[in-house]
Amino acid sequence: MCGITGYVGNRPAVPTALMNLKRLEYRGYDSAGIAFPNCTRMQIVRATGKIANLERALDGRDTTARVAIAHTRWATHGRPSEANAHPHCDCSGRIAVVHNGIIENYAELRRDLMAEGHTFLSETDTEVVAHLIEREVAAAEQERASDALSPAEFARAARAAIGRLRGAYAIAVIAQQLPEFVFVARKDSPLVIGLGEGENFLASDIPAVMRFTRRVILLEDGDCALISAETVVATDARGCSVDREPLDITWDDAAAEKGGFDHFMLKEIHEGPRTVRDTLRGRLTDDGAVALPRLPFQPEDWARFRRVAIVGCGTAYHAGVVAKRLFEHLLRRPVEASVASEFRYSDPLVDSETLVVLISQSGETADTLAAMREARARGATTLAIVNVVGSTLARDADAALLTQAGPEIGVASTKAYLAQLTALSLLGLYLAQIEATGDDARSTARRAEIAEYVAALCELPAMIETCLAREPEIAALAEKLSRHSCFFFLGRGYDFAAALEAALKLKEISYIHAEAYPAGEMKHGPLALVEPGVAVVGFCTQPLTAEKMVSNLKEVKAREGTVVTVVREGDAVSDSADEVITVPATLDALMPIVSMVPMQLLSYYVAKARGCDIDQPRNLAKSVTVE
Ligand code: AGP
Repeated sequence: MCGITGYVGNRPAVPTALMNLKRLEYRGYDSAGIAFPNCTRMQIVRATGKIANLERALDGRDTTARVAIAHTRWATHGRPSEANAHPHCDCSGRIAVVHNGIIENYAELRRDLMAEGHTFLSETDTEVVAHLIEREVAAAEQERASDALSPAEFARAARAAIGRLRGAYAIAVIAQQLPEFVFVARKDSPLVIGLGEGENFLASDIPAVMRFTRRVILLEDGDCALISAETVVATDARGCSVDREPLDITWDDAAAEKGGFDHFMLKEIHEGPRTVRDTLRGRLTDDGAVALPRLPFQPEDWARFRRVAIVGCGTAYHAGVVAKRLFEHLLRRPVEASVASEFRYSDPLVDSETLVVLISQSGETADTLAAMREARARGATTLAIVNVVGSTLARDADAALLTQAGPEIGVASTKAYLAQLTALSLLGLYLAQIEATGDDARSTARRAEIAEYVAALCELPAMIETCLAREPEIAALAEKLSRHSCFFFLGRGYDFAAALEAALKLKEISYIHAEAYPAGEMKHGPLALVEPGVAVVGFCTQPLTAEKMVSNLKEVKAREGTVVTVVREGDAVSDSADEVITVPATLDALMPIVSMVPMQLLSYYVAKARGCDIDQPRNLAKSVTVE
């Protein structure tokens, strides 16, 4: 998730585009860049790190241009570096492109273009766009006598190039030959056009243009537009004009950064559907299989592993607890889930026959990094499930599978947890698939099961939307529960793993003491703590143990605890329940993804009711880089 901006009009375009870009820095900050034409050639200025570094790199440059496109990066393809920073150009250096999204078929496009003699300067997926447009412009130039590229031809060439792309993109393009125009296109990535008097702006989201205008056009999927200072010509991918009604935005500036949400945490909870969609993107085949071509595993490599160890901290560890159960089911091998700070000093049973999966949002958590080094020192193969490209974990592990949550600003991890469970499910299915290639009955059954999982994974974004739509109910329930002094989260199997994460979310932002327990354990001690004023949230989403959960909740109700149950749509509700949270039903192993959304909302609204500092809770940091 990167941020792009652009400007065409009478102001100096470079400072204007950069000013707006700063409002998008939360979307990615590992490098930034800007392109603007001057009288002789396209100027490309890029720098690693924050936008401030880019501003320094622009010192002394002629920035009087009246058109510019800019970008702040969150690396998905190619580590953070100046060469991989946007904008990217074609071979002639006359066409510059900035892009937010993921181009799934970039590798094959790149191969074709290189075979035609195009030279690539970066590792990014984006660069293919510049060369594809170059190819189309060259074809157009051959057909006509004069050298001057017309705006209509430019737009046609750009549309033809975009038509070759598969994946998600919000793209802005400028051409040295046409310094009064910007071409844009979007599919599955946001892009807005800010309308001004004699000037127009473009950006990845509304807050970035609000400094200059509150009149915006929200482009829809498949839309393209050619923007000049006076005009915005919106078309579909074939060039047929489309009508997009401008909107008038009423948000205040402070709300702008958070996209209209009160806190980054709530905004990130609402990014759940996109996060899961993007983490699945390009990793599922049309015939219901999983494709992880970047993982360096061949069947023989995988066959070598006798056991799997999953390691992480906090929320990442909780994702590992879910994966332990799923991997054991799919792979029929011993799987261990460990807290990194314990793993590293436990003389762990890992060796060259062990695959160690390390989970981390930031990729910089000290204990997880140390656990990776410990595992490597013992000959194990390390695979990182990580959200930050170019982070230490992503760089130093033997392999990395990226979650596509985009930057997570709120200290309490929300969308990253959903992305981690999605990526872990893909990994488990992929490894099981490697083993299920035969024609024997077992392999056939396994492939059918994998296809069932793949279908269920694809339904998750819509299910998360359904949970988000129940936000008002959860907010009202949270208000009621916010005065309870102690919480227990109970579950069995996958539900217990979910309970662990739900308890962490509540305690870290509301400061209420909360514990997760395997429901069957309550009778062995914790039940002593249940009394009026104690809330017990029981996850009852696993058919195998649902009845057992009902009796456990009855035990709690008998001690006058407040009982909240999380049940699947259509399932019976325990009569012990004081409150019920209903969630869409999916496969047992995927239920933690669905049931965590109302839990994230519940924690958020309990903390809000208690007036806590939700995005920066006391005593905590987003990335714990010390032991
Ligand atoms: C979760 O909400 C917390 N922020 C914390 O437990 C976090 O999950 C843990 O510090 C691990 O961070 P990582 O995923 O960046 O390694």
